[in-house]
Amino acid sequence: MRIPVIAGNWKMHKTNAEARALCSDIRDGARNATHCRIVLAPPYTALGAAAEVIRGTNLILAAQNVHWEPKGAFTGEISIPMLEDAGCCMVILGHSERRQCFGETDQTVNRRLRAVMKSSLDPIVCIGETLGQREAGNYQEVISQQLAGSLDGLTGRELLRIILAYEPVWAIGTGRTASPQVAQEVHLGIRGWLSEKFGAEAARQVRILYGGSIKPENIPDLMRQPDIDGGLVGGACLEAESFLRIIHYDSRSTGGK
Ligand code: 13P
Repeated sequence: MRIPVIAGNWKMHKTNAEARALCSDIRDGARNATHCRIVLAPPYTALGAAAEVIRGTNLILAAQNVHWEPKGAFTGEISIPMLEDAGCCMVILGHSERRQCFGETDQTVNRRLRAVMKSSLDPIVCIGETLGQREAGNYQEVISQQLAGSLDGLTGRELLRIILAYEPVWAIGTGRTASPQVAQEVHLGIRGWLSEKFGAEAARQVRILYGGSIKPENIPDLMRQPDIDGGLVGGACLEAESFLRIIHYDSRSTGGK
């Protein structure tokens, strides 16, 4: 059974005081949300404050990236032991903003992923095509290539610890969500690729989130798609009111697909 995941990627937003306020509002509003797992990914500087507020609750703390080395002369980087120490249980890898603005490649995502698989952290691995790639019509190939590179060397058993996030770059921060049908087509393609590579059973169990301009208004239709197992939310997770409405996307839902 794939329990849905609603994850908020705060990106480069929120001071410690703002993070405390947002976490405590989400904590209070999500107390009865048992139909899904809720993940919060604040910036590094607010991890400690967020961890304090959500300790002992159903909220899961994640970081937005991590380096593959455990320590050393890597100015500006953060290690896996540091994230574990800060209270993180998960980490986002390969977000398109890391790929586009900071030179992240499938190979560097794979290095991070391999290090994370040896740790207590569970990864959310992001993939997705640009507008040019979508318009050129070869987006399935682009996504297959990203999957092959990012997941290289992974075993079927390890795959079960991974959450994938399909985030079409053209839908991020643009207000232009992929329609539920467009997203479902890609999610099904991803599951098909995973099935060939890791076997049907492993592919059936992996959660695949959609990300890109998720709002309280469009989450119900996205979640109705058979291969969409949750959302990675950007802008709409920065206010408790909208994030909580997304978490409670369907009061009749009892979770799992
Ligand atoms: P928006 O929801 O702001 O489009 O961002 C999506 C995203 O990049 C989440 O990781």
